Amino acid sequence: MEPKTDFWRTAAQDLDGLPGDLGLNIAHEAVDRHVARGAGERDALRFVDRRGVVRAFTYAELSKQSSAFANVLIGLGVRPGDRVFALAPRTPELYIAALGALKARAVFSVLFASFGPEPIRVRLLKAGVKVLVAEDTLYQRKVAQNRHAIPSLRHVLSLGALVPGSLSFARLLGAARDGYAIAPTHPDEPALIHFTSGTTGAPKAAVHVHRAVIGHYATARLALALAPGDVYWCTADPGWVTGVSYGLIAPLVCGVTSIVDQGEFDAERWYRIIEQEQVSVLYTSPTAIRMLMRAGPELAARFNLRSLRVVASVGEPLHADAVQWARATLGVPIHDTWWQTETGAIMIANLPGRDVIPGAMGRPLPGVEAHVVRRREEGGTLHLDRIEGADVSGELALIPSWPSMFRDYHDEPERYAQAFCDGLYLTGDLVRRDAGGAFRFLGRADEVIKSAGHLIGPFEIESALLAHPAVAEAGVIGKPHAVSGEVTKAFVTLKPGFEASDSLRRQLIGHARKRLGPALAPRELAFADSLPHTKSGKIMRRVLRAHELGLPLGDLSASDAADGAEPDATEPPSVQST
Ligand code: WT7
Repeated sequence: MEPKTDFWRTAAQDLDGLPGDLGLNIAHEAVDRHVARGAGERDALRFVDRRGVVRAFTYAELSKQSSAFANVLIGLGVRPGDRVFALAPRTPELYIAALGALKARAVFSVLFASFGPEPIRVRLLKAGVKVLVAEDTLYQRKVAQNRHAIPSLRHVLSLGALVPGSLSFARLLGAARDGYAIAPTHPDEPALIHFTSGTTGAPKAAVHVHRAVIGHYATARLALALAPGDVYWCTADPGWVTGVSYGLIAPLVCGVTSIVDQGEFDAERWYRIIEQEQVSVLYTSPTAIRMLMRAGPELAARFNLRSLRVVASVGEPLHADAVQWARATLGVPIHDTWWQTETGAIMIANLPGRDVIPGAMGRPLPGVEAHVVRRREEGGTLHLDRIEGADVSGELALIPSWPSMFRDYHDEPERYAQAFCDGLYLTGDLVRRDAGGAFRFLGRADEVIKSAGHLIGPFEIESALLAHPAVAEAGVIGKPHAVSGEVTKAFVTLKPGFEASDSLRRQLIGHARKRLGPALAPRELAFADSLPHTKSGKIMRRVLRAHELGLPLGDLSASDAADGAEPDATEPPSVQST
């Protein structure tokens, strides 16, 4: 059998490296090399604004503008490894900032624009951000009030109107030279941070290196079948890892034309974009597919969707009925892909050109070695038992040997170390592998929530609720939802002197919304007299979830594995109906 690493090595040979053998830089592979090879006039990005008007950027324009931004950053004193973040809607400036920051060897990240002030403050602080590129109104609403509390933040570059304490992005860019020779870049230098959440504690800042570009390229070629000539649309927002890895880097490295939709989801709008732009490859989420399904086949039938060659999805379980629907309505099946923020690129997939196994995520890519394991504690140390047989459930674990694997949780080496055991990376997902080697997703081993494809850490929501004077304790769970997969639901107990009421419930949800923003605020909230705890005092969210689902407690035993929580059977949940 071909060694697993050969897959990545072969893919790396398709990339150019920095001229003069000076290393590997994502931005060079994404834009400059296409210009050097004579493809500069090809459309790299096509932005579709709210009214449907298209603004295209060629590879040559993107190369120049990102070079200008690299010069801006160097002029501001940005050094390799400094964190440069963006907080902006899906505008061209966001993409220019990303590529310019990578050219300047800064570490780049996008803050999701639907986050409220608190998740943004926490992330800026955690990463020690030096430069923030921000749309003026988002900055005013979400950052200005906390700026004094983020001492590392030296410069705010405003997109739009100048706000107090900011510099004008447009003016700086306009004044900068648009030629930039990227300095030698080691493939293992940090390039990107993507935030992700666990069950406890603040969000984690997963660090990815320039070498990751090999993974983006190889997986997009294989699992999305991207090739020059394609018009590709990744519907994910760049505030999440998919929107950067497969909405920005992978398509550009593959040299295709990539669509960026600046509007919000609307089924008719989506079909129109596919028809007008002749989209050939679509990468989206099961939630979006379910919303298209709800819009009905008559709407789809009004559009010519025959340009679609490959449709793929990621982020949540893709059910067999969605695959059948796509066959009938879009004319092609949906290829499920599995990966995580930490893995940086697709690891398991139903590959285009092969039979889709409806209801299964597919098989590991040729460069990926996946195992099903059981955790075992022995003398206080964790061990993993590999399950070799088929059709047995266990946790998905991977041998960490692919180029886009994360290299650190920024400033949290212990947390990073905890993600590995016995030479394997532990994904936290429960799966089953069939005799043919296909993996099925069974659920999470921990208590993180997946809502509309977004990974949400319950701790962040609980902390926001606890900041309200009425709240004594809070436990947040994911509640099954027909379209979004899950929605967040909070259970709270009140401090003495506060009475449960509809108006207090609205107040608490409003309080959480103001701090967390619409993306993170709990969708539902119930008052409880008490919450179930482990012996060590942790709130047992899985008991709350069992209560919500009307299940006997034993049914959720699968979630014991990762939590390490000892159930305290003497304390049942006691939830009020208000
Ligand atoms: C978690 C990772 C959106 C891409 C990266 C998201 C879940 C991912 C699938 C799938 C069922 C899936 C897993 C995973 N997930 N793909 N095809 N079927 N579940 O990265 O936000 O770190 O989320 O998303 O639970 O661990 P992320």
